[in-house]
Amino acid sequence: MLLVGVGVVSALAAGAAVALALNISERKQEGRNPFFRVVELTDDTVDPEVWGKNFPLQYDGYKRTVDQVRTRYGGSEAVPRTPTQADPRSVTAQSRLEEDPRLKSMWAGYAFSKDFREERGHAHMLSDQTFTERQQVTQQPGTCLNCHASMYTTYKKLGEGDIIKGFEKVNAMPYFEARKRVEHPVACIDCHDSQTLQLRVTRPAFMEGMARLKKAQGVANYDVNTQATRQEMRSYVCGQCHDEYYFQGKEKRLTYPWDKGLKIENILAYYEENGHKDWTHAETGAPVLKAQHPEFELWNQGIHARSGVACADCHMPYQRVGAQKISDHHVRSPLLNIQRACQTCHHFPEEELRARVETIQERTFNLRNQAMDALVGLIDDVKAARTAGRTDAELAPVHALQRRAQFMLDFIEAENSMGFHAPQEAARILAESANLSRQGQILLRDPKFQPRIPGQSPPSAGDAHPVPAQPKAP
Ligand code: HEC
Ligand code: HEC
Ligand code: HEC
Ligand code: HEC
Ligand code: HEC
Repeated sequence: MLLVGVGVVSALAAGAAVALALNISERKQEGRNPFFRVVELTDDTVDPEVWGKNFPLQYDGYKRTVDQVRTRYGGSEAVPRTPTQADPRSVTAQSRLEEDPRLKSMWAGYAFSKDFREERGHAHMLSDQTFTERQQVTQQPGTCLNCHASMYTTYKKLGEGDIIKGFEKVNAMPYFEARKRVEHPVACIDCHDSQTLQLRVTRPAFMEGMARLKKAQGVANYDVNTQATRQEMRSYVCGQCHDEYYFQGKEKRLTYPWDKGLKIENILAYYEENGHKDWTHAETGAPVLKAQHPEFELWNQGIHARSGVACADCHMPYQRVGAQKISDHHVRSPLLNIQRACQTCHHFPEEELRARVETIQERTFNLRNQAMDALVGLIDDVKAARTAGRTDAELAPVHALQRRAQFMLDFIEAENSMGFHAPQEAARILAESANLSRQGQILLRDPKFQPRIPGQSPPSAGDAHPVPAQPKAP
């Protein structure tokens, strides 16, 4: 019995040794051949599945962006629905309007008061845009597609090789005409050069926005694709879409309001100067603005940007697969992946890191609720004043306070990290928003009251600081 036992054990050990040796040599092989060129990719290969033949690991992660998992303040919930002819989706994300009906008051008269949902993974971007009820309230322009589809080859084709020309053509089309010319959500070719795989920016609005921002900082003719560092590109590819925007002029040109800088005061000063309004508030008559997902702008004001930590460091962290180190293309909430997203730099237990994030988010959420109550209070008071006969001309100074308070609140409300990307900046903005709404209420009651508007003289544009080469762990 003993002899047989020893024999079995040593046979197993020998087998294990052989298996290990094989495994090591396989891994060395993988390390040497980062990929097998199975297919030839060109500057016109838009289908991510074709790219996936050469890069199966990245493609696998990319496909997983269909997943819906909730975190306390992020991720999303899969809400089943009955598909209809008009909207064939069988699953959507939870409605934010149902979660907080005060949003309908803030956006009264605007398409957002009709349908606004929690955002979900990249795989859904094109269908969620196509089928949102916001498409039924007004005719949307082709510009919308810039951030919801793989656009690079469409721009190139329509512009006969010139993506700026193609971009202008798409912007000027009605949405559903432009929609026929795209097929995929954001794809490999939108972030990568097909030959070198290097990161690149393909969105004209981002190139132009950055050039205007740099000009304000004294850098002429900035070209993001030749002048940005690799670490900067690891955020800029995301900044192509995750930022505040508006449609300029009749041609509906997608424009990022960064001429004076990226801080909220810079952006507000820009809109004051050009007199832009997104719509007229249905209940108060105020000319108001809608802020949209300013992740890039808010991140820029935080300690991580200051320390050179990029979007991709947290949202596409490195992952070891065999001997390869790849970037996780399953772009999602880092709280679903704390070990790889945070613990490479922060040597604290997972629960401690989660608690730090959730503490920041809970504080932001509480302030957001107070600022929202204040704004709805102001809106109700203006409504009552109009019913009592006060004219919009008389109410103009109060409208100005509503416009500013509302944009500041919406800037943090629309930003998707619930304050995490720049906690103190988020808290400051919400506190000032609440103060502005309450001052509006006082002004309605006492015409002699002199409102004090903080930060109206914009700080210098020098707030998009250069990024240090490599971040160090604290
Ligand atoms: C230091 C890490 C870090 C960096 C850098 C970072 N983020 Fe985040 N981001 C987070 C965390 C943490 C959350 C909160 C996630 C949650 O609540 O589930 C978040 C939330 C988000 C969300 C909402 C995700 C969701 O699940 O709802 C988006 C979108 C986002 N970030 C985009 C960006 C972009 C774009 C950049 C760069 C401009 C960036 N982030 C930089 C950590 C980071
Ligand atoms: C500058 C880029 C950009 C443009 C232009 C853009 N979007 Fe988006 N959109 C985003 C980003 C980023 C998200 C995810 C973050 C969020 O929802 O806040 C998003 C989310 C959405 C969602 C899902 C969440 C929701 O709001 O219900 C819909 C629907 C949507 N957009 C529709 C549109 C429509 C319609 C237009 C044109 C009027 C448009 N988008 C233009 C970047 C953009
Ligand atoms: C072409 C525009 C575009 C680019 C480029 C882009 N995003 Fe997005 N992102 C979107 C849109 C649109 C959505 C919302 C899709 C929806 O709700 O259907 C989204 C959603 C997200 C979410 C929410 C995912 C979830 O599960 O809730 C995160 C996180 C995110 N993006 C981070 C990033 C990061 C990080 C980068 C850069 C590596 C990036 N995005 C690049 C347009 C873009
Ligand atoms: C939203 C932008 C974005 C999209 C879309 C995207 N990638 Fe990437 N990809 C990145 C970033 C960021 C990196 C990290 C690059 C770096 O650090 O230089 C990366 C890195 C890579 C690398 C280098 C090895 C690694 O994993 O770090 C390969 C290969 C790659 N991506 C393939 C793909 C393929 C294939 C697709 C489509 C299925 C794709 N990518 C879609 C942003 C993107
Ligand atoms: C690439 C490295 C890196 C990654 C990845 C990273 N951090 Fe950080 N983090 C830093 C640095 C550097 C600082 C600034 C520390 C300092 O200067 O004292 C910081 C600061 C912080 C702070 C303090 C914030 C403040 O405003 O004072 C928190 C909280 C934090 N990180 C949480 C996280 C979480 C959660 C993640 C993952 C989602 C994460 N970090 C990912 C490097 C990183």
